[in-house]
Order: sequence, then C-alpha cells, then structure tokens
Amino acid sequence: MRIFTGGPAGILTALIAVLMCLASACHAMGVIGIDYGTESMKVSLVKPGEPFDVVLSRDSKRKIPSVVAWKVQERLYGSDAASLGSRYPGDTFMGAKFLLGREFNDDKAKARHAGLLNTKLVPNGERNDSTISVERETDYTVNKEGADVYSIEEIVGMQLSHVKTLAEEQAGEEVVRTFPGSIGTFGGLDVAVTVPIFFTAAERQSIYDAAQVAGMKPKLVSDGAAVAVNYAMTRTFSKPERHLFFDAGAGSTSATIVEFSTKTVQADSVLSIGATQKEAIVVDVLAAGWDREANGMALDLIIRDELAKQFEQKHGSKLSSPITQQPRAMARLLKEANRVKHILSANSEASSYIEMLSDEIDFRGSLSRHDFEKLVSQAGLSDRFGRPAKDALQHAGLTLDGISSVVLVGGASRIPLVQASLRAAGILDSKIAQNVNADEAAVMGAAYFGASFNPQFRMKAIRANDGTPYPVVLREQDGKTETVFPAGPIETPSVTRKYPGATEDFTMQIEYDQSISRDTLDGQQTALYAIEVNDVHKHLAELKQAGHLDNVDVQVNVTLTTQPLGTYKVGSAYLHVKQKQSGVVGALKSFFNVGGSSVEEEEEAEADAGESKEGAEGNSTTVKEKPKKSVPTERHISLTGRVVAKGSVHPMPPSELKTASDRLYVADVVMRKKAAREEARNLLEAYVYRIRDTVEEEYFKKASKPAERQAIQSKIKELSEWLAGDGDSADTTALKVKRGSLESLANPIEKRITEQRVRGKAIRTFEKAQSQARAFLNEARANLTEAMQNNLASKFTVTELDSFEMQFDKETKWFDEKRKAQDKRGLDEDVILPSEDVEKRAKKLMDAVKRFQKRRVPKARPAKKEAKKEETKEEKKEAGSEAEQKEHEEQSKQEETQQAPRHEEL
Ligand SMILES: *[C@@H]1O[C@H](CO)[C@@H](O)[C@H](O)[C@H]1NC(C)=O
Ligand SMILES: *[C@@H]1O[C@H](CO)[C@@H](O)[C@H](O)[C@H]1NC(C)=O
Ligand SMILES: *[C@@H]1O[C@H](CO)[C@@H](O)[C@H](O)[C@H]1NC(C)=O
Repeated sequence: MRIFTGGPAGILTALIAVLMCLASACHAMGVIGIDYGTESMKVSLVKPGEPFDVVLSRDSKRKIPSVVAWKVQERLYGSDAASLGSRYPGDTFMGAKFLLGREFNDDKAKARHAGLLNTKLVPNGERNDSTISVERETDYTVNKEGADVYSIEEIVGMQLSHVKTLAEEQAGEEVVRTFPGSIGTFGGLDVAVTVPIFFTAAERQSIYDAAQVAGMKPKLVSDGAAVAVNYAMTRTFSKPERHLFFDAGAGSTSATIVEFSTKTVQADSVLSIGATQKEAIVVDVLAAGWDREANGMALDLIIRDELAKQFEQKHGSKLSSPITQQPRAMARLLKEANRVKHILSANSEASSYIEMLSDEIDFRGSLSRHDFEKLVSQAGLSDRFGRPAKDALQHAGLTLDGISSVVLVGGASRIPLVQASLRAAGILDSKIAQNVNADEAAVMGAAYFGASFNPQFRMKAIRANDGTPYPVVLREQDGKTETVFPAGPIETPSVTRKYPGATEDFTMQIEYDQSISRDTLDGQQTALYAIEVNDVHKHLAELKQAGHLDNVDVQVNVTLTTQPLGTYKVGSAYLHVKQKQSGVVGALKSFFNVGGSSVEEEEEAEADAGESKEGAEGNSTTVKEKPKKSVPTERHISLTGRVVAKGSVHPMPPSELKTASDRLYVADVVMRKKAAREEARNLLEAYVYRIRDTVEEEYFKKASKPAERQAIQSKIKELSEWLAGDGDSADTTALKVKRGSLESLANPIEKRITEQRVRGKAIRTFEKAQSQARAFLNEARANLTEAMQNNLASKFTVTELDSFEMQFDKETKWFDEKRKAQDKRGLDEDVILPSEDVEKRAKKLMDAVKRFQKRRVPKARPAKKEAKKEETKEEKKEAGSEAEQKEHEEQSKQEETQQAPRHEEL
C-alpha cells in the first residue's frame, strides 16, 4: 500500500502546510508505530513514498527482543542483547514491561518478572522508593557510587530509542519531540505506542515517560484498538459489525470487543478552512476482558522449572550448587524452554540438549505436550487463557451470537492449550477467523492509527475511538461524584466542568469508579490524582483592588483531558469574569467580607473615587459607563491547574526525566561515535590488506614503477604496525587520515589500471560522436544553402552552424592531441587522456546534434512572422480553443528542448 500526500505540486503543498502551521495545529509527515511487547517489540512506518511496512532490525528481523544488555560498557539491544543473557544474566534486562508503573512493594508484578533472569531490583531513590529500578550486577563504573542503576522507564526508554532510531533511518527524518498535533511542528515523525487495554493510569504514564526518555511524545493506543484498525484497513462495513479480538501474548491475555460501522464524520481539512464531512469507518472499543497471569512467559517459566527439575534429579548429587541457584544455567534453560514451548505447539514431544549446562555436565531431557499441559493445569492457568473472552462478552452485555467473528492475535494464540481454553470458555471454533497476521496486526494498526489524525495523509478514513475498561469519576470538594470519562469508546478526549460563583481555590479528586475492584486493578489503587485549581482568590483580589469586580459574574472552567489516553491531566483552567446585564448589587462582596475587611475598604475607596455606589446598582446605564473607564466586559484569566498523583506510584518527576533522557542521549552519541570509529578502523584494515595483496599482482606491477611500489609497501608496513599499536585507541579522524596516506599512493596506480580497461570504449564513443557531428554539419550546410537559394525558411542560421563547427573543431583538436600524447605514455605513467573527460566531451557533441535535429522547420521565413504567430496563439488561447492551446503547448515544448533542459518540477 502506498500513501500519498499533497498531490504532485509538492512545493505548493509545503507552502500551504507551512502557512497552516502559523494558524493551527500541524502534523508530521510520517508516523511510526511501536508495539512494545513483554518479550519482543516491533516497529512500523507510514510515510508518503515509502512502502507501509514493518521496519527491520539491524539483523533484518521483523521483531526485536525487548531486551537491553551490557557487555562490560557496551550496551546492546535486541537479539544481540538476548544472546548475552546466559553469559551476563545480571547485566541483561528483559520483561521490563511487567514492572512499568508498579510499586516497589508490588508482589504481583514482581512475581511475574522474578526469575526471568537474576535481575536485581532496587527501590527508586528519586521517587521516595515508590517505584522500581534495576541495578547492574557488574560494576564497571569508575566512580564510587557503585554499579549503574536505571529506572524501569529508562530501561524501556533505551529499547524504544533503539527502535526509534531504526525507524528514523528508514524514514530519513527524525521524530518530532512534541505531542502529536502541537502547534508549530512540521515535518518529522509522530509516534503511536501500543499499551495493554487494562493498563492503569500509572502504568500508562510510565510507558509514556519511557517514550519521553527516548525523546518521543507518543499517542498511546490499546493493543485491541490497533489490531482493530489494522482489521478495518482492508475491509468495508455496510452495516455495523462486532468482532472479538483475542490476544494471547507473552505478557498477558486480553480480549477486546470492537464495533465497526460506517459513518459520516467531521474531518479536518488539509487546507484548514473549517471542517468538512466525510465518510469513515468508525472503530469503537466497547469492552475488554483480560488476565495478567495467563501469559506466554509464564509458560516458559513452567517449562524451564521442569527442565531444571529433570537435570537436578539426574545430576543433582554431582552439582557444586543446586541448578536453580546458578543464574547462567537457568538463563540457558529459559531460552531452551521458549524453544520447547514452540515445538510443543506443533508436536507432541520435544527433546532438549544443552552442552555443559553446569559443572561440565550436558543436559538431556524431554517434555511431552501432555505433561506440559498437566503442569500448566497444576499451576492453575489452563482455564485462565480463555476466560478473558468470556469476561469481555459479559462486560459488553453480549453473547457470542452478537459477535461476527473472533480474531486470534498474539504469539501464544497458536498454543493448543490456549485454544482449548478458549473453547472451554464457550468460543466456538466456527467463530474463529485466522485471517489476520497474528504477529504484526498491532504494530501496523498502531502506525495507521497515528496517521489517522493527520489530514495530510490520503488514506482510507478510519476513526478509532479507543477506550479503557475503567470509568473515571471526578470527586468534587463537597464529595459529589460524577463520571467524567466512562469506560468504553472515548470520542473526545476532553471534558469541561464549570464552577459558577467560585471565588476560592479548590481541590478535586480523580479516581476510578468504585465499581472497579482493586483486584481488577491488579492490586493497584483506585485513587488517581488530586487536582488543585489555584490562584482564583489571588486574581479576584487583584481585580477587586482595581475596582473591576463590581456587578460581575464569576465562573471557573476546568477542562480535563485524557491524553495520552488513560492518563488524566488538566488541559486548561480559566477564570471568567463577565459584566452582569442586571443583577444583585455587590453579589461578590460577601466573598471579600469573609476574606477580610481591608479589601472591602479598598473596594469602597475605589468605588467612591469612580462613581457613586448607587450607580453600580445593576443598571445598564452604569454598565455603559464602565467601558469608558476601559474595563473589559469579559475577561478570561488563565489559572494554574495542578495535578498531583495520588496513587502510591510516583510518576517520573521532570528532573529525573531530564537526567534520564540526557543520559540516554549522551550514551547514544558515544555509541554512534564508537560505531563510526569501528567502521573507520575496519575500512582501513580491509584496505591495507587489499593493497598488500594487489601490489604483488602482475597487472599492478606493470602499471607502476619500482619506487612507487616500494613506497606503497613501506606505507603498508607502517600502517600495519600502527594498527597493532597506537591505532587501537585512535579516533575516527586519525583512522581516516591514515587511510588517506595510503590512498594517495595507491589510487593513481589503480587509476592507470582502470583507464587501461575503459579507454578503448571511451575512444570509440568519441569517434562515433565525431562522425555523427561531421555528417550533420555537412547535411545541414547543404540544406541551408539550398533554403537560402530558394528563399525558404531554414531550421538553422549560418551563425549557429559556424559556432557549432568551431566547437566541433576544438573538441577534435583536444582529442587528437591528447590521444597522441597518451599513446606515447608507458603503462606505468599517469594518464593524460582520462576516459571520463573523453566520454563527457563526446556526450556534449551528441547532445548538441540532437538538439539541432529536434527542431522543426518554420512554415515561412523566420524573423518577425514568428513573433506575430505567437501573438495570435495567445489570443486564441484566451478565447479558450482547446485544440489551439494544445498546439501552443506542443510548440512551447519544442522550444523548450531547443534550450537547455529545464527542471521538470518547475
Ligand atoms: C467557560 O465557560 C463559559 C461560560 O459557559 C464559556 O463562555 C467559555 O467558553 C468556557 N471556556 C472554556 C475554555 O471552555
Ligand atoms: C435603568 O436605566 C434605564 C434606562 O437605560 C431605565 O429604563 C431603568 O428604569 C433604570 N433602572 C433602574 C433600576 O434605575
Ligand atoms: C536536410 O533536409 C532533408 C530534406 O528536407 C531532411 O530530411 C534532413 O533532415 C535535413 N537535415 C538536417 C540536418 O536538417
């Protein structure tokens, strides 16, 4: 699929877009989608002119393990990192998604992560020890602060930064560092990152912060919504349909019920001239069910422990320590367990062999699918995989009959026991559709979702109303509660609440509805944020002091937004002060009477100085007089609306975010520098080896003098010694300079060799051009003479042909002289007739001839008649004769080819 923007008039579009940016929200010209999974991640790119596809990893894979590892000081990602797990299990970090946005004391989250590798979890000191950090096992730092510690957001941020870089390289441009749709951004890439639909506000904030560490401000989209968008990309819905997307992944299992319909929606216009209407597929996320324990990684751990048991039973007595206490061996078993799990999806038995697992003893074991399923059942997980589908139906108030199909996605959905569990939960096989790319639906859908907000993309219109399963209520200061963001599809991410007559600062609470149990929240709290609306009193006092508070209505508006989706913020808070049409005298005075007498006195003074107190008594006459004193009839004063996280999980404070983001940025720069240095070193090494061999070749000897070869050989010797010594620590520039020193000796000789090969062809090309030009000149002269004799129009003038002949003679002379000189030269001498020049000059001659030949004979004698003809054409064109216009264009084209070729875009 290809996506176009702006049409062919690229420059015009760019201008319009830039103009738009001044007035309204601007969007990036590409979107990357990131599906950040517990076990692996994927990244996709939507960009005009690029095929819409998954971005490949450095080793050309479509998915990338969600792992970061350190080998001494070198940081590695993806499969490089994953393969380090068994050598440096304490410096390899996986499964970080289990820990995002969770408390340090959260046993449930830690239990899911525990035992993946022997990762050392420590409380995050920056945040009152409330959240989780990891500490490297090995201390390679030179400072005395001990081993490096990273917050979970940083660990995830590094991985996101890695895939971001892959996408940026593919796109040839960078990610926009502002939230999608912010004012003033143009060009660059927007980002959409997937989250599990059940992620709480703290968990969502945490992955958002991780993305911020990586220099992104993404939109968040639930896995189910992303898959649904991908589903809608290739389908139409003449009437509403509901589908259940069942996603069994490495980190959790979830089911999302989505309704698809075709509706007329408001669409932003590219030209930003108001909004237009268009038909779109609307994707509404209705309800979800999920289970955090039923996940693919849990199955890996079950198998790993079984394999460890088998080994222990056979060889336990010979082991220096129990196998479960050997991190490297356990890491190797975990990797093997993952392999066994995949084999058991298609086979009834899997055998394992690991060389020298521990104490130089090989591991030989096997596991049958039957035994595996028994172990899963013993762990109480068998039923749990299918249950989310049942729960989702129940939450949506639907039965299976109301569902058109069940779509399976996620790696674990291929496991027989997972499918059996789904069947046991009442999902009939006949409902199951497997026509979606189970692995890539989410990442492709995420990018499309991100692009759907950008009117500059010309794509099939899909409007996705994503949602969360938790209704969010606002608890007012007086205890009254009201649902501000219900569960299910969210069409507008903002709600505004009005507080007429508010005169004091106030506080409200945002929390999950009481119907949501802590169990549903995986033990997390229902309290979310406190919202403090500040400076109300301060501003009113100031107005009062200025005498502008008479006969007015006061109201505070607070706009709450859920952007990124599932986190909650104050979008804006305003104090509105508006002149009353009529009303009660000094309605607001009581507020200051309570507050203190001094203000009241000032107000009196102000009023006296202005007009009589009676005058203020709510008559339009007085109101009319007010503006004379230039008092605005309406004011909008911006207030600060502060949001304080109330849960026990403290989100990343700005200072920590900045430090982490800087630290990652610096590390990335260092890594890129190192990579550049390594590349320069490899290039130099390879070059030295090549020339060392080449110098001995016969053809090289023939093309060089003994002294030249000697110089090259001693340079090679010098460089080889340097590479083994100082070169080891040399920087990129030094490496390049060294390479240059050998190139300056070897290049001229290699040039002689190449020239020998290509000279013949170049000479033939030139000779051909020469003879064609000669033939043309002869013929053209003859034609011209004839035309002049008969007083007819001619294609060429005498001057033109004379000047061409002069050019021709000049080129011929150059060629003959150089060629003669070249023939006298030995093979071991520098070239005097460079083939490149010869070809260039030949082409110039040929081009000139071609241009002449393309001309048309004027119908009559040239000069003034030509000009007149043009005029009439202009007139006729204006009259609108299409045929004439075409002819005119033909003519213009002809003329164009006579002149220097023009740039097509212009
Ligand atoms: C706040 O409320 C007033 C009165 O209803 C309204 O005129 C104004 O537009 C609102 N402001 C915002 C930002 O919603
Ligand atoms: C206020 O002034 C209007 C004229 O603008 C007049 O008709 C009305 O009676 C006055 N009301 C009071 C309460 O003085
Ligand atoms: C010379 O005239 C002949 C006959 O009109 C034509 O075919 C030929 O292309 C002309 N040659 C050149 C070089 O203009």
